[in-house]
Amino acid sequence: MKNSQKLVTELIFGFGRACLLPILLVCALAAAVQATAQAPTPDSPAIEAKAHAMVARLTLEQKIDLLGGVDGMYTHPATAIDLPRFKMSDGPVGVRTWGPTTAYTAGAALAATWDPALARKVGEGLGKDARARGVNFLLGPGVNIARSPLAGRNFEYFSEDPFLNASMVVPYIEGVQAQGVIATVKHYALNDQEYNRHNVSVDVDERTMREIYLPAFEAAVTKAHVDAVMNSYNLVNGAHATQSEFLNLKVLKGDWGFQGILMSDWDATYDSVGAANYGLDLEMPNPRFMNAKALLAAVKDGSVKESTIDDKVMRLFRTVLRYGFLDHPQFDPADSTYSVADRAVALEGARESITLLKNEGHLLPLDPAKIKTIAIVGPNAYPAVTGGGGSSEAQAFEPVSTLTGIANLAGARVHVLYSRGLPNMDDVFRNTHWDGVIKVATFPSRDFTGTPETTTLTSFADNRQERRATEDRTQRSIRYTAGYKAAKTGKYLVLTSSQGWGGDEYKVLVDGNPLPVPPHAEGFVPPFWTLDLNAGQTVNVVAEYLPRSSNARFDLGIAYEPDLVAAEARTIAAAADVVVVAAGFNPPTEGEGNDRTFTLPWGQDALIEAMSAINPHTIVTLTGGGGMDTRRWLDKVPVLLHTYYPGQEGGTAIGEVLFGKHNPEGKLPVSFDRSWEENPSQPYYYPIKGADTALHVTETDGRKVDYVIPHVKYDDGLMVGYRYWTTTGKHPLYPFGFGLSYTTFSFSKLQAPATAASGTTVPVSFDVTNTGSVAGAEVAQLYVSDPSAKATRPERELKGFEKVRLAPGETKHVTLNLDARAFSYWDTAAHKWTIDPGKFVVRVGDSSESTPLHADVTLK
Ligand code: BGC
Repeated sequence: MKNSQKLVTELIFGFGRACLLPILLVCALAAAVQATAQAPTPDSPAIEAKAHAMVARLTLEQKIDLLGGVDGMYTHPATAIDLPRFKMSDGPVGVRTWGPTTAYTAGAALAATWDPALARKVGEGLGKDARARGVNFLLGPGVNIARSPLAGRNFEYFSEDPFLNASMVVPYIEGVQAQGVIATVKHYALNDQEYNRHNVSVDVDERTMREIYLPAFEAAVTKAHVDAVMNSYNLVNGAHATQSEFLNLKVLKGDWGFQGILMSDWDATYDSVGAANYGLDLEMPNPRFMNAKALLAAVKDGSVKESTIDDKVMRLFRTVLRYGFLDHPQFDPADSTYSVADRAVALEGARESITLLKNEGHLLPLDPAKIKTIAIVGPNAYPAVTGGGGSSEAQAFEPVSTLTGIANLAGARVHVLYSRGLPNMDDVFRNTHWDGVIKVATFPSRDFTGTPETTTLTSFADNRQERRATEDRTQRSIRYTAGYKAAKTGKYLVLTSSQGWGGDEYKVLVDGNPLPVPPHAEGFVPPFWTLDLNAGQTVNVVAEYLPRSSNARFDLGIAYEPDLVAAEARTIAAAADVVVVAAGFNPPTEGEGNDRTFTLPWGQDALIEAMSAINPHTIVTLTGGGGMDTRRWLDKVPVLLHTYYPGQEGGTAIGEVLFGKHNPEGKLPVSFDRSWEENPSQPYYYPIKGADTALHVTETDGRKVDYVIPHVKYDDGLMVGYRYWTTTGKHPLYPFGFGLSYTTFSFSKLQAPATAASGTTVPVSFDVTNTGSVAGAEVAQLYVSDPSAKATRPERELKGFEKVRLAPGETKHVTLNLDARAFSYWDTAAHKWTIDPGKFVVRVGDSSESTPLHADVTLK
């Protein structure tokens, strides 16, 4: 019963929505045609008629009620027609809203696999996990572009390249939807930073949008036929995404023919009439603006047409009918919430994604027969860090940490030693020896004016005592004043934390000089600073704190950096044959609502330096959504492995890679910069000073709220990631597409037609050979250059790739087909994709900077 139901579901959802049960055979035959379809096909007449009949039974008010969510994660029910509410869950790395689940490799890691077939398996796993929890909508995948390494949600997204994103997201969505679960591609569009994501206007030209920021959404709609899209928080060219005529009506529902449901991000709606008229179908999590009070009046005065409301309701009804949500319960007991099969998919993802960036002297793979003792240190060694922070944070059933993964692989013969290597932050706060007492003055104002209500003297700078107080501290400002006397000469770290509801602000001054703080917004990762002090030097430290919640808390501590490294870490590093330092970010330091630092979290540079000074066989594993600062220690360590956020099986995969049980095959989905300053988006990342605009919003209860809209101008344009590096001829630390293996590969015999008709498919073929002595996988990458284009184009752009698994000595012949789009650019004047006939160059290789094969192709 279940299998036949599944087959039907897969045929219907996998092969296009026009296919209905009676015509399954035709449907299967049509599959190949559907694969190249450019827009979703309309629903069957039967679904259309049924949806119309349902709409006809509702009053205008009942219809409007369906435009806003309920209870945080549900659509609104319509009791008049027995329509239940439909359940949602956050993704995209696990079905995370309803308890423990399988945590898969996060998006950036999945992109590093360059394996679309694996993306499909992850999608299928997520779809099954969703069914097992009765979930109708999965709120994922996220496909925003990794424009800057600071963006806190890069780990959830895929890469810096639109082609790679599109290639991975299509099978992912198909996998989810084939299980009868609606995928929701997000965040549409240009939510490429977390800093001030609610208020910022991303100002960007149409060509940049079409070529860089929209293609993954476009593929999700036109190729994967995704049935839900989520609008982002930010504004685009001055209009909130939820009321962007350009994004929603012109592009999504117009050019791409999207027929599903366009929902808002949670509290991303700012206007009733604007949202209703400019494409939003569902306001989540509740109808703050698209509610009966506002929209009944709007329909009455003609500012919103009833047919516009009907269109939104029809989209919901068509979709739920198409998925059969009214015919069968969504909960499928055959799909277990705990799944061994899904664990295997999570492990595959972790294995395929781990990217070997440096392997000096072939230290890896380790030989378990020769290694007697291995020291594992670092804050990311245990417990497992499976994903970043925020709404994607899945609680995995059995996450495998780096420590346990390596220990399991090493076996009983290898002695495994462990130390966290660094203290916890609270220990630093508690152990800071201030010079005398700290004065804490609480002012009855937000600007440190007036007579302090309380002045207390304490021995350390957290206000735990005050935290217990019940008074509302959001109306207060608090100043801490202390002295700090350096015992030794050297580097000191100043650490702070504030754990309010987000949006806490503070300033730290040392001898009257303010330490630089990142711009404050929804939240931010507490920064840390380095001071160079001489033994005996005393500095005056002042912290000015503006709490935003009544249980806010602020801490401040100073530590001599070398003393942060635990003595036992030094001891075990000296005793071991190799040291593995598990460093990088984690949910508190990289996640939703915050941008992260480019530098590693505090103390980690010192830890790696100390370990490598003690033991030359120091291996560093990094966790993070993208690049980070390695300058202090990279030339001192022989091995660097990037693990992204590998999901619940990360530790096992790391162990397998270290001991050569799995040959690393991950390839960077982003360019790794040396410094944040050299990232091409850096000059354009923060809002333009003095360009803020005002936005006046009238809430439906009549309250008027004024918002300040900062404007970020994407003047880096098309020059994102490797497009910048290859066009300027400069080189990043590690290029996009790069990753080492324990074997070697060669590329040969490139064949491409010397001439071809513009608009036809151009086949490019070549051989890939494993020239080493172990089996491995290579990702053959195909880049296209357009030197004779009339418009300025990036020097090269990825337009094809294939992962090839090869035994030692084996050769595979690969053919990649370049369609018309592979040669096109967005013609700003004509508003369409254009090919300028003339010379193109196709290049094949193993990274954006290493393309040993090339050939000219002239398009006529
Ligand atoms: C996030 C979305 C998420 C939603 C629901 C928002 O804060 O931006 O990605 O789906 O919350 O949890």
